[in-house]
Amino acid sequence: MSVPSVVPSPPAGDELPAWLRPRIPTSFTPLSAPIRLCCIMQKGGSGKSTAAVCLACELALMGKRVRLWDVDAQLGGATHWLNPDTGDQRGEPANLLHMLKGEASPDEVTYPTSVPGLYVVPSYTSLKQIELDSPPGLEQGIEWGINNTSEPFDVEITDCGPSLGRLTIAALVGTPNVIIPLKASGFDLNALTELNRTLDLTKSRVKPDLQVTAVLLSEVLKSNLTQAVFDAMCGDYPEALIMGIRQSVKVREASLDSIRKPLHDYAPDATVRQDFQYLAATLAGQEAT
Ligand SMILES: Nc1ncnc2c1ncn2[C@@H]1O[C@H](COP(=O)(O)OP(=O)(O)O)[C@@H](O)[C@H]1O
Ligand SMILES: [Mg+2]
Repeated sequence: MSVPSVVPSPPAGDELPAWLRPRIPTSFTPLSAPIRLCCIMQKGGSGKSTAAVCLACELALMGKRVRLWDVDAQLGGATHWLNPDTGDQRGEPANLLHMLKGEASPDEVTYPTSVPGLYVVPSYTSLKQIELDSPPGLEQGIEWGINNTSEPFDVEITDCGPSLGRLTIAALVGTPNVIIPLKASGFDLNALTELNRTLDLTKSRVKPDLQVTAVLLSEVLKSNLTQAVFDAMCGDYPEALIMGIRQSVKVREASLDSIRKPLHDYAPDATVRQDFQYLAATLAGQEAT
């Protein structure tokens, strides 16, 4: 594992509006390679796929070799948005389900996208089967895939589904730097408590190096509620980067059926893009592109 001899300091965030200034704890250091990030929150619509896809794109644009794992059986996540080039195949291409069942290798389920340097492991609704079949060792499946890839990636990101089942645990085990996206407007303390319990259990039983790296307040608007949730998250996750991702119709449009383009292609100047560029640069300890 290559660790930079001098850890660069994170960007200052001066380019963001004052009300959106991120909280970077003094203990925060950019992640050293290989970077392994898990976008998790068991509530649907909290901004996981948006964060995973936009972050993956920005890291790829920074020159990193990035792989995004779609760990959600529901349609509408990373596979749909990035539409990986699975070639001319009849039926469903080899995907995460096949790898987890031992029917395809990690290389066989990794496909290029229109973004240079960005690859996707796709999933389809058939992925639901895996939790019903419940094969032994499922929790180690994604970590195994990452470790058994012929050409390793600089960055591995998992985009979880809305559950805390065995598949999500597999994502946590494979990618233990946790990013929690949540909507300030729908803040749900019970959901967060349940998530923290899962994170603690996974950390103590299977993955001691698991840690909450960032909490993202998705679709933020300038409001007292945003500030209150921001302050609460700063208290609850003292070691994590806390920041807002601005609300933008562009990011919503980019993933629509009729458009399906990465945000940087569809709306390169959208302000929300600055938020993801800032996040990518801070996590990787590099200048934003
Ligand atoms: N910053 C944002 N501004 C506007 N819409 C957003 C933003 N982030 C996410 N959305 C929209 O919210 C919906 C849910 O987001 P998504 O990332 O799919 O959540 P999850 O993966 O947690 O279910 C999508 O329609 C998405 O386009
Ligand atoms: Mg999603």
